[in-house]
Amino acid sequence: MTHKTQVGIIGAGPAGLTLSLLLHQAGIQSVIIEYRSRDYAESRVRAGLLEQNTVDLFNELGAAERLNKEGLQHQGVYLSFDGVRTRVPFNELTGGRGITIYGQQEMVKDLIKINIEREVPIHFEATATKLEDIDTASPKIQYIQNEETHVLECDFIAGCDGYHGISRKSMPTGSYNEFQKEYPFSWLGILAHVAPSSDELIYAYHERGFALHSLRSETVSRLYIQVDNNDKVENWPDKQIWDELEIRLTDNKGFKLNRGEIFEKSITPMRSFMIDNLQYGRLFLAGDAGHIVPPTGGKGLNLAVADIKWLSAAFIDWYKNNKEEPLLSYTSNCLPRIWRAQDFSNFMTTLFHKQAAQGSFDYHLQKAKFNYIIQSVAQATTIAENYVGLKEI
Ligand code: APR
Ligand code: PHB
Repeated sequence: MTHKTQVGIIGAGPAGLTLSLLLHQAGIQSVIIEYRSRDYAESRVRAGLLEQNTVDLFNELGAAERLNKEGLQHQGVYLSFDGVRTRVPFNELTGGRGITIYGQQEMVKDLIKINIEREVPIHFEATATKLEDIDTASPKIQYIQNEETHVLECDFIAGCDGYHGISRKSMPTGSYNEFQKEYPFSWLGILAHVAPSSDELIYAYHERGFALHSLRSETVSRLYIQVDNNDKVENWPDKQIWDELEIRLTDNKGFKLNRGEIFEKSITPMRSFMIDNLQYGRLFLAGDAGHIVPPTGGKGLNLAVADIKWLSAAFIDWYKNNKEEPLLSYTSNCLPRIWRAQDFSNFMTTLFHKQAAQGSFDYHLQKAKFNYIIQSVAQATTIAENYVGLKEI
């Protein structure tokens, strides 16, 4: 069967779901094709750090009611190295900016609900299998749903289908260059029914490896530890995870870790991935389809939403004002921001993970970088302004 829309969106993650709402607000039609079920998309556990720009955009969309009620606003972050802990106060260093902690899957739930209320079509359990005619004015998405093949004819295709999706792979070889860096460690992340042990996030270097204390609510904590790439969740009984967190998060001021029932456990590899072109013909990539950052710093969701801000504005200019230039400048408008976040995510990752032997030259360089945060307001400000997100994106 053949269907028609103005913008065909592949993927109901934060990128696709935000784009459809922005287009709807401007009176532009879209259809979302999503491979997973609604249930699966809503329960996929990911990070949960929202920059002010991201929160502002969800507010403008009328999608922030629950986020404003349940999101936790943080004005600073704790950074630790070998038990020495310092606090970077965002509000003082960035003129009152901060971050909000709100699980990505909660945001996805809210965005799906609002899309459905506004009657934006989302086809769940529909797999985009082929993109056709992307270099013409009538590109098409072939997709399979309930074993039936459909074709969605569009003016534009937005590839919001993540790293493993088909959009990036549908751009011709030679139309972009890839850059990547694999890290020799992964994160074991848990969600636990337990009151957070800290009022703000703690990123900690320890000789046994990195640990991160994050949170979701007054009764749910989110924590991570650095593990080897070939490690398995089965190797980590709950008690061992808590013991390890306690050792790695300890400081010289008597930090106490609360323990509770772990209800989610998974291992995520760490990688940086980048391409230098987000557009081919009428196909535009946004979010993880075009770039991956390691999660240290929580930039993934914010980058996806910022891409969409530019992309939706460009589509709106095309439909409302007959302007093509913003679409043609989409890549060049986005790349500097994405590279900035790549650098910051890489900086945070290399600063807090165990990579070199304790006491080695590289270890001392890492420690010197950490000490400089304590010594220099300029360095603390650099971290704060990157962490909360630069205002101009
Ligand atoms: N057809 C239809 N849907 C697809 C296909 C396909 N061939 N391939 C992938 N998808 C869907 C996936 O099932 C997923 O729901 O695309 C969606 C992509 O969503 P995300 O992976 O959440 O990507 P994005 O919207 O760019 O959000 C980026 O997610 O991974 C985190 O850290 C990352 O926070 C960042 C955010
Ligand atoms: C999270 O809360 O899941 C989180 C927070 C900060 C990060 C990564 C993950 O850097």
